[in-house]
Amino acid sequence: MVLQLFLDTANIDEIREALSWGVISGVTTNPSLVAKEKRDFKVLVKEICDMVPGPVSAEVISLKSDEMISEARALSRIAPNVVVKIPMCVEGLKAVKVLSQEGINTNVTLVFSANQGLLAALAGATYVSPFVGRLDDVGNEGMDVVEDLVILIENYGLPAKVIAASIRHPMHVIEAARVCAHVATVPFKVLENMTRHPLTDIGIVRFLDDWAKVQDTFDK
Ligand code: E4P
Repeated sequence: MVLQLFLDTANIDEIREALSWGVISGVTTNPSLVAKEKRDFKVLVKEICDMVPGPVSAEVISLKSDEMISEARALSRIAPNVVVKIPMCVEGLKAVKVLSQEGINTNVTLVFSANQGLLAALAGATYVSPFVGRLDDVGNEGMDVVEDLVILIENYGLPAKVIAASIRHPMHVIEAARVCAHVATVPFKVLENMTRHPLTDIGIVRFLDDWAKVQDTFDK
């Protein structure tokens, strides 16, 4: 199994930059992230889908299952790599059941317990997204939900994949990998921080200084 990294953003520049690093294989958006871009939703989703050679999650905003289903069908027509994000609730489960029968990929979002995630997986979700950071914020151990869900899904051979979401810092990514999350979706800032270490910066300066000293000798 390979840990996949998705980028948690709706910003085209961040996606373009992260894709050039060769490390991300998908994108997740949500209504808050899309609202920041001040762009037409469907046009933006299409643009992201054309750039990303992997799943792109786009969320419905309806709260009734039949409306979620209509929205999901429309979103799935935008591009073959659209994954429809459905909020975790009874209406969401009903929608996921229908959509999975139609072959539309779903990502059940706003999952805060292993029970919620299990139900989403049983309803036929392609992805289930426990929100680690938001659980940590209220004094729970968010990564425990990811770990429990991975175990439940693996124990029973359910096809759903667990996305560790609401990632706030690089250690969350390491912990997600330790508990065998299938995917971690990370904000661009966290991805940038993952590249950095002060000893790398010091090492580069030292190598270049040493190199320059020798070059000076040869130049004389
Ligand atoms: C996941 O798909 C969500 O878009 C995201 O991870 C939520 O993160 P936040 O808690 O930082 O808003």
